[in-house]
Amino acid sequence: MAAFYDMNTPGHKTIQSLVEKVGFEYNTKAFAMKMDEEDELKSFRNEFHFPPGIDDKPSIYLCGNSLGIQPKNTVPYVTEELEKWQKYGVEGHFPGVNPVRPWVTADEHCRDDMAAIVGAKPVEVAIMNSLTVNLHVLMCAFYNPTPTRYKILMEGKAFPSDKFALQSQAKFHGYGDDAIVEVWPRENETYVQTEDIVQAINEQGGEIALVLFSGIQYYTGQLFDMKTISNAARAKGCKVGFDLAHAVGNAPLSLHDWGCDFACWCTYKYLNSGPGNIGGAFVHERYENDENLSRLVGWWGHRKEDRFEMEHKFIPSPGAQSFMMSNPPVLCTAALRASTDLFKAATMERLRFKSLRLTAYLEILVDTLLKDKVDIITPRDPVQRGAQLSLVFRQNVVKIHEAISAKGVICDVRKPDVMRIAPTPLYNTFLDVFEFVNLLNDELSKMN
Ligand SMILES: Cc1ncc(COP(=O)(O)O)c(C=O)c1O
Repeated sequence: MAAFYDMNTPGHKTIQSLVEKVGFEYNTKAFAMKMDEEDELKSFRNEFHFPPGIDDKPSIYLCGNSLGIQPKNTVPYVTEELEKWQKYGVEGHFPGVNPVRPWVTADEHCRDDMAAIVGAKPVEVAIMNSLTVNLHVLMCAFYNPTPTRYKILMEGKAFPSDKFALQSQAKFHGYGDDAIVEVWPRENETYVQTEDIVQAINEQGGEIALVLFSGIQYYTGQLFDMKTISNAARAKGCKVGFDLAHAVGNAPLSLHDWGCDFACWCTYKYLNSGPGNIGGAFVHERYENDENLSRLVGWWGHRKEDRFEMEHKFIPSPGAQSFMMSNPPVLCTAALRASTDLFKAATMERLRFKSLRLTAYLEILVDTLLKDKVDIITPRDPVQRGAQLSLVFRQNVVKIHEAISAKGVICDVRKPDVMRIAPTPLYNTFLDVFEFVNLLNDELSKMN
């Protein structure tokens, strides 16, 4: 088959081989529909409520990077707990009355599936609080500055909440802005080179108390090499943690094997648990019984066996669960379970397999149909990205967004000129991607 592109990225090659396999040109509806027909995860789309689009069609929802859509199981799962509350009152906490999912262990009913999603052992994971709160809670244990080693290494363009959290931690310990050391992309480049992160760690590691990066950069969609960053940081005696907001449920994670000290995440993006819902935390197994950790604690971190004896001597639960402070919000964990059940059935391995193709499809359509109108700032190497591609527009991005929103597309814009597009393998199709790029192309042409 004749070459149909001139960029030859790994993503383009993936699509070329699929074109050869299915026998339709990539820029045809027939190709997209054939890919969807052969998708072994296709039934998962029916497990979700899509916000309505236009003409009685569901929206083309490409915003799982910001807020996932609602699983059809969410209402029944949450309703089940509300009904138990009506029926049992306080007794619903205990297995004697509420044997299937007693509320005392509400977090545990989705914890093991969550551990599988992040590549951790169940003892290394806690379902608790929300993301920025967890970042602070974990930094209380893992950011222990001294006058000679007090710096925090982070990415220059980190999500503001992370920057605020890190700055305020430094300030809390009596250090100023020089405590924050940032790594930026090189001049004229859009994302950070791993070797620049490693170099910063190697050169300044003696002064760095904590290395804190995101798993996936929220703006560019870059998937950081968390294994290499963890190894470099630990070799220099720094603690290392990750904010996995955009990585969890999106990219394959092996937190235990990578050896980072801690991580935290939200569950409302790719994990579809609902707006602002409960977060997750990882603490590596090597701290499982570490009595020297200076963590902040509450009664729910006390070991389960005698928590209700109400004694005043704190004896920690093993592992990450010792960081839980309050009893788990049952309606939140029920909504989360509606999604982790789907992830368990789909598996991250199969999701990543589809995601690589879906994002490559978006890439080749943007590169060819929208050539000279749109640039992709996300890494071209699929190993360095998740589902999201970040598109930069030469025309006014807000106007373009308005135009495609009116046509039933849901996606988001980040100032000054970026649109983040995240085809999510659990519920998006190749047809979604095909229709999105064609719609965008039509609207861009009208604006010329
Ligand atoms: C990378 C990143 N970090 C932190 C946050 C803040 O999350 P929360 O408001 O749940 O603390 C977000 C929210 O979108 C995010 O994308």
